Formats: sequence, C-alpha cells, structure tokens
Amino acid sequence: MYRIGKKEVEAVERVLCSGKVFRYGVGGECTRFERRYGKYVGVEHVLMTSSGTTALTAAMVGLGIGPGDEVLVPACTYIASAIAIVAAGAIPVIIDVDESITIDPAAIDAAVGPRTKAVMPVHMWGLPCDMDRIMAVANKHGLLVIEDACQCVGGGYKGRKVGSIGHAAGFSFNFFKNMTCGEGGAAVTNDGSAVARMGCMTDCCKFYWTDRETDESLFSSNGSRASEIEGAILNCQLDRIDGMIHRMRKMKKRVLKETADSGIVPIKANSLDDECGTHVMFVLPTQEQATAFRDLSGCGIAGQTGRHVYTEWDPIFAHSGAPHPALNPFKIKENSECRMDYRKDMCAKSLDILNRTAMFGLHPDRKRNDVTKLIRTINKAAKAVL
Ligand SMILES: Cc1ncc(COP(=O)(O)O)c(C=O)c1O
Repeated sequence: MYRIGKKEVEAVERVLCSGKVFRYGVGGECTRFERRYGKYVGVEHVLMTSSGTTALTAAMVGLGIGPGDEVLVPACTYIASAIAIVAAGAIPVIIDVDESITIDPAAIDAAVGPRTKAVMPVHMWGLPCDMDRIMAVANKHGLLVIEDACQCVGGGYKGRKVGSIGHAAGFSFNFFKNMTCGEGGAAVTNDGSAVARMGCMTDCCKFYWTDRETDESLFSSNGSRASEIEGAILNCQLDRIDGMIHRMRKMKKRVLKETADSGIVPIKANSLDDECGTHVMFVLPTQEQATAFRDLSGCGIAGQTGRHVYTEWDPIFAHSGAPHPALNPFKIKENSECRMDYRKDMCAKSLDILNRTAMFGLHPDRKRNDVTKLIRTINKAAKAVL
C-alpha cells in the first residue's frame, strides 16, 4: 500500500553522500526513526530490525519466551508469525479465527494448556484484533501478548495504535506493507526489562559500537541491524502514513455505505474507525456463493491467497524448525510436552470462514471514479449470487 517519492530519494541521496550509512556513532536516521515511531505507536522502546520476522522473534526472546513454551497463533496469518515463534525456540499452537478473520478470543480461552506462555494476535490485512477481549483472556490465564502488527502499520484499536496494547509487538516494513524501506522491521515494547534481551537479538555485537557498560552482550545471536539508508527512508514514510490511511479509511467507509443495501455482509469489524482501510471484505453465506461472487467481481478469497492459511505452513507441518536436529525446537526435550500434532483440518471453522470471505484491496491513489466502479461491481455481483 506504500507510496515512495522524491522525499525518500533525496533522503537516501543525503545519507549516501554523507558517507555515514552505519547507524552507530556517526549516524542519526535510525535513532531518530526509533524515537519518532515510539511516539507514534505509543511505546517507550523501539528497536529497528532487518525484518518483521526478526522483530517478532526479538520481542518474544525479550519477554523470556523460549524452549518449553507454547505460543497460540491464529489459523490465518503469513507463515512468518509461526516461524518467528519457532526461531525463539518455542512451539506454535494453531487456533481458530472468528468472523473478523482475526484470532478468536474464545479460542484462546479454550486452547490454554499447561505449557502455554503467550498468545500472538495478528492484525491481518490492516484489521485490528479484538484486543479488549484478548487482553482479558490473557490476564485471566497469565499469558504474555505479542502483537504481530506487521500488516497493520499505522492501524489502531479503539483509539490506541496496534503494537502498544500487548506486552510487545513486531512490525514489518517490507515491500508489501503500509510503510516500507524495501525490507525492515521494528520490535517494540513498554517493558524496560525486556529491552536488553531484545537488543541482543537484533544486534548482539552492539556493545562494540555503543556504551560497553550498558549495552552488554548477553548471548550470541544472529544480527539483524538496520542501516541509515533504511532509517532515512522510514523517516519520510512516517510523514506519509497518516494521510494514506485517512484516505483508505474514507474510501472503505464509502464502499461499505454504498453497498449496504446489496444484501452482502461486511466481515465483523473490531474497530472500524481505527483500522488501516487497506481491504474491504465481505462474508458470503456459502463457499459456492463466494466462488461465484469472485468470478463476477474479480475479488480475492481470504482462504485462497496461497500463503495466509495454516494449511500452507509446510516447514511447521514437517516439524522442520532449524538447520540441525539438535537445534530444532520440535525435537528438543524441553518441548516434548508441547502440543505439535498439526492436522490440515484442525481449524475447520477458520477454513470455512476464510473460504467464504471475499476481499478487495484499496490504495490511497485510487481515484473516485475507480471506487464508484468498484461499488457498482460489488452491488451487481451481490445481486447475482444472493
Ligand atoms: C502477518 C505477518 N507477520 C510477519 C511477517 C514477516 O515480516 P517480514 O517479511 O518483514 O519478515 C509478515 C510479512 O509479510 C506478515 O504478513
């Protein structure tokens, strides 16, 4: 959904010409972005990373999640959510989504077992999860909450930005996201006690370049440090995000209003005024009707994108969690009591909902006429299939 323009080009040129592309000592763009993004999201600590996946893993390691722990993850998300859990040494337990196509708070309540330490609500396709109910269930069971906000940069829930509600969160700034610097991410938290471990995951060699006293290296890990080029681009992207989201939300509300009499039902919204507005979605009564609606309207089907449903998580189903068996969280004895019996039909309710959910992508540059045409198409297709 992102926009990149002259401002980003000039910012990159400035950084390149300065010869200061390394973030420590001489730079300033990454530090500035971390400070500004923290204010924007409403969190105290932001650590830039090389990707959303590394951000999520760092967030979990920061909170002390690892071998011996299960993390509940929704049936509808990109595989990276589950992979980030495995990369922290823990085991993903897959649970249902509800009609909002985000994690079902009732399913969290029902799935908690003796090994469950955390839950990862995923704000999919710019749609915030039902965070009030999720936090209530998490508090009831003493679970940690790691928000996967990778697809919801700039989105919120009831007046707060996503990423600021759970104990920690991960954002992605890859090519497909609302803000991008090509590849990148950010781990965020308000938990000061998690920051040193999070920092060690994002750059375990940081202490060489900063203050050796405060930035001690706690353990060895992979590096996922960001560069000043990424920081410079993201500082420009942050200036654009609210305007873009405002336009998409307005567009979405217009589509919903002008299709309200068609009989087609929008998916349940957890916080319509705060979501990103990147997609308009409708739930059809049957899969056959959803297919017919797709054929007539050209929409996508949430369950059939080829990469957002648990049935497509091949390495997870294969228990292939590391390059060597001794490092594989699915094989180590600490995880022997964790639930890892994955079956393709284990979340049949989610598959049914996702295969009945029609989706249309929006973009801030869509012209008014184009949206009018989209509304006409939806109304016509709905009349034909309902
Ligand atoms: C829901 C979700 N989580 C995590 C990620 C991982 O982000 P990245 O590709 O930056 O590692 C993505 C990326 O597409 C995603 O969509």
